[in-house]
Amino acid sequence: MQIRSWADYEYFYKNSLEHSDEFWSAVAEYKIKWRKQWSQVSEIDFNLGKINWFLGAELNVSENCLDRHLESGKGDQIALIWVGNHPNEEKIFTFRELYREVCRASNALEALGVEKGDRVVLYLPNIPEVVISILACARIGAIHSVIFGGFSAHSIQSRVNDCGAKLILTATGTYRGNKWIDLKANIDEAMALGCPSVTKVIVCERDSAHGFFSQSYDLKWAEWLDRFGSENHLGASHSAGDPLFILYTSGSTGKPKGVLHRMGGYLTYAAYTYDIVFQPKENDIYWCTADVGWITGHSYSIYGPLANGVATLIYEGVPNYPDPGRFWRIIDQYQVAIFYTAPTALRILASAGDDFVKKYSRHSLRVLGTVGEPISPETWQWYDEVVGEKRAPIVDTWWQTETGGILISPLAGISPTKPGSASFPLPGIEPKILDDAGKEKLGSGPGTLVLARSWPGQMAGIYGDPERFYKTYFAPYPGYYWTGDGAQRDDEGFYWITGRTDDVIKISGHRLGTAEVESACLVHPFVSESAAVGVPDPITGESLQIFVLLKEGLKGSEQLAQELMDLVRKEVGSIVSLKKVYWVPGLPKTRSGKIMRRILRKMAQGEKTHFGDLSSLADPAIIEMILAILE
Ligand code: WT7
Repeated sequence: MQIRSWADYEYFYKNSLEHSDEFWSAVAEYKIKWRKQWSQVSEIDFNLGKINWFLGAELNVSENCLDRHLESGKGDQIALIWVGNHPNEEKIFTFRELYREVCRASNALEALGVEKGDRVVLYLPNIPEVVISILACARIGAIHSVIFGGFSAHSIQSRVNDCGAKLILTATGTYRGNKWIDLKANIDEAMALGCPSVTKVIVCERDSAHGFFSQSYDLKWAEWLDRFGSENHLGASHSAGDPLFILYTSGSTGKPKGVLHRMGGYLTYAAYTYDIVFQPKENDIYWCTADVGWITGHSYSIYGPLANGVATLIYEGVPNYPDPGRFWRIIDQYQVAIFYTAPTALRILASAGDDFVKKYSRHSLRVLGTVGEPISPETWQWYDEVVGEKRAPIVDTWWQTETGGILISPLAGISPTKPGSASFPLPGIEPKILDDAGKEKLGSGPGTLVLARSWPGQMAGIYGDPERFYKTYFAPYPGYYWTGDGAQRDDEGFYWITGRTDDVIKISGHRLGTAEVESACLVHPFVSESAAVGVPDPITGESLQIFVLLKEGLKGSEQLAQELMDLVRKEVGSIVSLKKVYWVPGLPKTRSGKIMRRILRKMAQGEKTHFGDLSSLADPAIIEMILAILE
């Protein structure tokens, strides 16, 4: 089942909606090696929040990414290229070498007492061990939960406890530009805060320059591999419905949600979408710049390319180290054919000037991708003209942690494109645009983006909280999966994603909930209440600003603002940078007590009069009071 032309796309799109089960059966058979066939393709009920794919089927996810390619004679082809932060630091693994490493890691994890179903937290940066340990967990059926290195001890602790992790795998640290990030220190702090389910912390040594202070729970990964890591490991057969991983992500309210993906559906969808969107060719080198700690790294640095037998490159460092030519230099050095990055990185690199790009040939590039936030037509054109020299089609891929893989995107070199539009839904995906009353909007126009039917990559639940799963995603518009995004369809049917309509902020493509920031501020004894908002920013997409109401009789100061900034970073992590703090005498609320953030967002952008519908505002006088402060 290949989609290699626009005619294929049109045929399969229609077919996928008319004969859904047959379509997904064909996809799953074509992309995945199963140990046992399914007895039922899907069992879906959006009204109950029930999502099951490939019932009765069995597979081993790691075998699909590794063993299968040895059997088909790809053993000596490159599977993984690791590029370190410092130029010229690299490690390259063939499929056979990666297979051996994953077998060793699987055996070592089992020797540590890790069993199927156990949760393993991976607080690892972009180093080979993160790929190896993810595939090892998948092999033995342990559920991995990667936590991005930019999250603090408090964030680690709450995630570890939410999933009840048995083990934490971490590294001494990682290099990001000129900085050394001491990851192990964050783990020690999290352990000191209390992680009762964790029995051991396994530490990979990033290099010989940094050792680690040995705690009673520490083990050196290298020593354990030497002792217990034999090079063969027979991956067991797992049910398609067994959990593969949990990835925490921010929503509008409350603590981050543990998004749960299951083995069969997720892998099928990652493999299928990787193939049709990027159109890889034999011997391609593919590079996704994401950190493996986000869903993009899971689906499109690891599972998608490796299931397709494509060589994947991961990079430890930042785009502008040692200079803003680094990305293009890596592309030349490894002859990257397919390059996938975020608009925020493109904006940083475009602002550094075209000379850094033009210094390199970039001749190997055939496909360019973008993900994470809306890309402006200007940035899209810069990517197209300066980076790709109009030779490489751009795929603007829209999706979410919850969707497991890409839902709306051009197919590289096949679909028509427009700068700034994610274009059309992939076969099997049925988006709809709803109006404020929840009624479907036909034809062109803006509204709320929802999905009318399930797909195999759809999250299977929120770990430990089925009630919240239903309430968050299916209760808002009965019969639909609610995305939280706004979108617009134009006269020719192209989709234009306009961004979140809820209280989720995107800073440099990183997803953050206002609730997390606000509860961090509340930790400060002077703060009575606060409201965080995302304000448009030319480089980071959105910047975080916060309106703070202090307790009776207290006054704001620069020092207090600094304390709040430090506090938010301590509570949430270094991914957050608080750009501005406003001291206000009150917050605009509805009569039922909900903060009206959209008013504050407009105020932060300098708006003084046009705040939209204010009929639900409890105390209209507050508007003038806040405006007076902002003056
Ligand atoms: C949110 C999901 C998908 C992997 C990385 C982010 C925004 C994502 C696009 C795009 C416009 C986009 C949406 C979405 N988003 N891709 N191509 N165009 N917006 O995953 O952290 O779960 O964030 O990112 O607002 O809801 P995530």
